[in-house]
Amino acid sequence: MHNSNLKKTILVTGGCGFIGSHTVDLLCQSGYNVIVADIVSPKYKNEKAKYYQLDIASSDTERIFIENNIDVIIHLAAQVSVSVSNRIPLEDAHNNIIGSINIIELAKKYNVKKIIASSSAALYGSPQYYPVDETHPTFYLSPYAISKHAMEEYIKISGIDYLIYRFSNVYGPRQDSKGEAGVVSIFIDRMISNLPVEINGTGNQTRDFIYVKDIVNAILLGLKSDICNETINISANTECTINELFEIIKNFTAYKLKPHYTPERIGDIYRSVLDNKKAKKLLRFEPGTSLEEGLSKTIIFFSKRRYVNA
Ligand SMILES: NC(=O)c1ccc[n+]([C@@H]2O[C@H](COP(=O)([O-])OP(=O)(O)OC[C@H]3O[C@@H](n4cnc5c(N)ncnc54)[C@H](O)[C@@H]3O)[C@@H](O)[C@H]2O)c1
Repeated sequence: MHNSNLKKTILVTGGCGFIGSHTVDLLCQSGYNVIVADIVSPKYKNEKAKYYQLDIASSDTERIFIENNIDVIIHLAAQVSVSVSNRIPLEDAHNNIIGSINIIELAKKYNVKKIIASSSAALYGSPQYYPVDETHPTFYLSPYAISKHAMEEYIKISGIDYLIYRFSNVYGPRQDSKGEAGVVSIFIDRMISNLPVEINGTGNQTRDFIYVKDIVNAILLGLKSDICNETINISANTECTINELFEIIKNFTAYKLKPHYTPERIGDIYRSVLDNKKAKKLLRFEPGTSLEEGLSKTIIFFSKRRYVNA
């Protein structure tokens, strides 16, 4: 059966990162021509994709558009750490605002048909109601939230068809457990090594964890769909406390130590859960992976990696 999607050329910015590398794998597997732009070299290289190592904010980026006929851009490249954005807002703005503007301008110049961009739950600040839907007012607790919102607005006025995805807390294999990583990868990394685990505050704060494969499926749905010019939450729409997360991983890893409670981090959001009704309705999105299933797959990945690196 003929399928015109199979011939599309997709540029994945940030395609060497956690979500990006899974996106590249799924798009290659689905028959797309995949081009990757990332400032780092790939740790999980897909032999079918073509890689460009460059800063998306640099003029060098035009080379990608000259050498390839890009149909759609999946824009994932970003400075992703809230605390780095607080410490070095210029670096955050360089990657997230200037980098995005450069990509958008090139997209206009080379007639790209659609941009799917990753934004964040950080835009909702400390929510006024739960679950947080897309009409919830935006409120900035960090330069990261500001830079992501600026990206959204530049995309909206570009005239290019777009989907803006606001992700909740994404976890899964390949997530970096060093430095600024998500709580899931840090907990797993420490528990499988039998190292002490710190919980900030009481541990009763909640997060809406979503497995990376579900995020990548949402990207594929957006790519195949005619729906455009929408801002959509992509989440599991479930609330899990950090204490509950600790218990699940503890049981899977047979971890024996008690968590070490440290003072609450200033600026941390207490409750977070994103409404995903719009994604379900417009994209037929279903976050099919339960937290237990996703965590067990992630633990297997981290355990194998530890074994290989040992
Ligand atoms: N992981 C989450 O929970 C989460 C939640 C909400 C939104 N997001 C968004 O999803 C996207 C992907 O996040 P991730 O978790 O995979 O993070 P990641 O850090 O693993 O991936 C980001 C990638 O972008 C690249 N990059 C950064 N600046 C660049 C630049 N100037 N030029 C070229 N490449 C650059 C990095 O090298 C990295 O490979 C980001 O836009 C992030 O803001 C992630």
